[in-house]
Amino acid sequence: MFETKHPYRVQLTETGQLKHFITTEGLPRALLTEILDTADSFVDMGAQQVKKVPLLRGRTVANLFFENSTRTLSTFELAAKRLSADVLNLNIATSSTKKGETLKDTLMTLAAMQSDMFVVRHSDSGAAHFIASEVTPGVAIINAGDGRHAHPTQAMLDMLTIRRHKGDFTKLRIAVVGDVLHSRVARSQLHALRTLGVAEVRVIAPRTLLPRDVESFGVKVYQDLTEGLRDVDVVMTLRLQRERMTSALLPSESEYFKLYGITDDRLAFAHPDAIVMHPGPINRGVEISSAVADGKRSVILDQVTNGIAVRMAVMSMAMGGQQAERQARAAAEEGAGQ
Ligand code: NCD
Repeated sequence: MFETKHPYRVQLTETGQLKHFITTEGLPRALLTEILDTADSFVDMGAQQVKKVPLLRGRTVANLFFENSTRTLSTFELAAKRLSADVLNLNIATSSTKKGETLKDTLMTLAAMQSDMFVVRHSDSGAAHFIASEVTPGVAIINAGDGRHAHPTQAMLDMLTIRRHKGDFTKLRIAVVGDVLHSRVARSQLHALRTLGVAEVRVIAPRTLLPRDVESFGVKVYQDLTEGLRDVDVVMTLRLQRERMTSALLPSESEYFKLYGITDDRLAFAHPDAIVMHPGPINRGVEISSAVADGKRSVILDQVTNGIAVRMAVMSMAMGGQQAERQARAAAEEGAGQ
């Protein structure tokens, strides 16, 4: 585990511009809204034949995934390419980290190749923050998931999907269902939902899958699924993160599905126009039925499409922040030299 002393301040410039994206926690509403507005314009661009803009032309983006990924890695790669960046995907399975090279040495080597941005997924909570604050100053760090801590681009693509389907956050009732305890996605979602002013945020899960401090997120906690789903506008399901469970927290997957699986019968308690989300990968028949995952309320594939746009937005904003900071530093040095 790495230290996370200042989990959010490190990601902003002196003037409050984004220069890294590590967590949604503590970011002001205006900044989250700016990410969504910027991403909105990229969604429209993605629907056109020519999907490229030159915002990151000549820049080098390195995708460093120390943990497995399908949609996050591929949408980050596409996002960087649509911004016209040169993209390097480091295959960690065959890289020198397997020969014992430390994270710090790997990153300093890549920084020496004049990379402008690292997109990092790592199993240790705090890894992205550690890199941004200690390892490679001047390189924009985008967190693509660190341990159980945060997955901010996933949370923002979820916010974009909600806004595009449901509009005004302040009028919504939203339920997050499932394994909150092990989920970096849930933590980032809850911070963002709260900052964006969602009227009512609920969390539905067995006690064993809830963090002890869950109420501090300003949510209503339900153990009963049907009660928790009553009249909600958005159902955000989470994957059961078996790989992060250190002890038996559940009787069985079939028992879990019986109590917490999202089915059409269960959804009847939600608002008739409710949408259903899942960050993927889905365990069909565990947290969600196939009928719901593939049904008309599911927006799961929209989440994937919106992920490209959100990643483009965050990458271009962070690069802008880095550039602004470099210019400010150069101006200050010039001033001091006179
Ligand atoms: C999530 C992750 O890796 O944290 N997936 C993703 O990024 N699409 C959620 C999960 O693995 O369940």
